[in-house]
Amino acid sequence: MDDGFRALQDWLAQTRDEPLEAMGAFFDARIGDYEAHMSPWRAHYAWMAALLPDGIETLLDVGCGTGLELDEIFARFPALRVTGVDLSGEMLAALRRKHPDRALTLWQADYFAQPFGDSCFDAAVSFETLHHFPAAQKARLFAKIRDSLRPGGVYLQCDYEAKTQQIEDLLFAECARRRARDGIAPDVFVHFDTPLTLEHEMQAMRDAGFARVELVGYLPEDDHTPMIRAVR
Ligand SMILES: C[S@@+](CC[C@H](N)C(=O)[O-])C[C@H]1O[C@@H](n2cnc3c(N)ncnc32)[C@H](O)[C@@H]1O
Repeated sequence: MDDGFRALQDWLAQTRDEPLEAMGAFFDARIGDYEAHMSPWRAHYAWMAALLPDGIETLLDVGCGTGLELDEIFARFPALRVTGVDLSGEMLAALRRKHPDRALTLWQADYFAQPFGDSCFDAAVSFETLHHFPAAQKARLFAKIRDSLRPGGVYLQCDYEAKTQQIEDLLFAECARRRARDGIAPDVFVHFDTPLTLEHEMQAMRDAGFARVELVGYLPEDDHTPMIRAVR
């Protein structure tokens, strides 16, 4: 058996009795050390900013949090008009404090329920926010992102993947077990990671109707956080 899979099984066994936390409350409670916790992805944020097409004027950030990707994106596009959506009021408040003078529209909302509009953004991004949801639910969100882009608009996603089908299945099964144990209703979001394999993630984007979906790649010394580009 692969060492990584065994380590994951061990971690799940050690944490098996921990209660699940609601998504928004999870991030509200961790606002103090959130940015330090995300510092290993500094190079990925810069990479995402560099990959956006020249000349964009409007951007949708899905699950923007405190906007670590936006720190890099604003450095490249200071006049960009950004719409960010996130469940956590604390994360959005921190983002507003960091960028008081930028053209920021912030929606504290569930991105599955929030309308994004039609053909109104030049580009869209999401960073490390979608590794909690099943493929069919993601495909519906990807369709909404696609529709919100102007024709030819680009969606960049950087998030971590399940390296194998076995890992994807194990995490979804464990999440279902914990949800049932805690009596959590199907429509309540919890913070428990259930990443898809790269193949399933990209298929969900194709199912959503993007014209082109491609793997941009991985950064050196990181083989589990792919950058994906989808074009309307
Ligand atoms: C790990 S943070 C990433 C934030 C930011 N993109 C970054 O990389 O710093 C994940 C964010 O997704 C948000 N999120 C998770 N599920 C959400 C949902 N259904 N609707 C809106 N935001 C959600 C969380 O509140 C959190 O701020």
